[in-house]
Amino acid sequence: MGFPINRPRRLRRNETLRRMIRETRLGPDDLIQPYFVCPGRDVKKPISAMPGIAQMSVDLVLREARETHAAGVPAVILFGIPSRKDATGSEAWNENGEVQRAIREIKQHVPGLAVITDVCMCEYTDHGHCGVIKNGDVDNDATLELLVREALSHVRAGADMVAPSDMMDGRVGAIRTAFDEEGFADKPIMAYSAKFASAFYGPFREAAESAPQFGDRRSYQMDPPNGDEAMREIALDLEEGADIVMVKPALAYLDLIYRAKHEFNVPIAAYNVSGEYSMIRAAGINGWLDEERATLEVLTAIKRAGADMILSYFATKVAQHLR
Ligand code: PBG
Repeated sequence: MGFPINRPRRLRRNETLRRMIRETRLGPDDLIQPYFVCPGRDVKKPISAMPGIAQMSVDLVLREARETHAAGVPAVILFGIPSRKDATGSEAWNENGEVQRAIREIKQHVPGLAVITDVCMCEYTDHGHCGVIKNGDVDNDATLELLVREALSHVRAGADMVAPSDMMDGRVGAIRTAFDEEGFADKPIMAYSAKFASAFYGPFREAAESAPQFGDRRSYQMDPPNGDEAMREIALDLEEGADIVMVKPALAYLDLIYRAKHEFNVPIAAYNVSGEYSMIRAAGINGWLDEERATLEVLTAIKRAGADMILSYFATKVAQHLR
């Protein structure tokens, strides 16, 4: 039955009716805040391509963690910028590294905030790739061992969850096996399962000082046109023991968030990545759009597509606004 019996506008007439009809509600619980942890004390280095975001030393990360927690955001994800890089990224499993110290500080002083760690080599290698290089390419199987060491050092420091982001084959299984053998059977893995070789990571590479020094990441990150392959990657990670699977980036891949939710019915994370943040901030700063509304619209869309949790540089700010 159509018009004039049906008039969809009846339910849009005022904010009270719209509140009753609203299908998707974004709240602080949906969000995860990323931090970049750098060496030193009282250090805050703004990232020019991400206005409002900075690398911070452990003491300042702790201060921000208190704010994030107070805003009602349940979790943070940590990225480390080491003082020293080498060919194998050996700082990644230093028990006194930036990330490991930040984990201990946060868990001691803000125990209610979940600490997730990004597990990858690219911030720690001098060549900027996500694993060890053999014959000009990243060697998959040799990298697994290093990722396991890094992941173990994070849970030993007290991390609540690890998030491998390197896209090596078999890394979820390798980390799961090591955790189970070493007494960490209870630590969940959030796998960056469908991670695409995206231009939208550009600003992050300045933030994490992790741009590849030669070539690009297309031999390990996914080719953006491939959706079926993304579903196969997710299936493999679930078989290997992933507890949460991620689609990344979020905005250009909303169809895959939707498919993943419907095909697997497991917890889905989506990463609202650096380029997605910077685009909105740039337009906002220039007065080209209403930044606050655009941010809420985008994050709500990611949730509507099927994401159960959203990693976003806007997390704390949005949560403060929503409270
Ligand atoms: C590490 C990693 C990257 C991001 C998260 N983990 C960068 C990359 O793969 O180049 C991107 C996050 C963002 O852009 O916000 N491998």
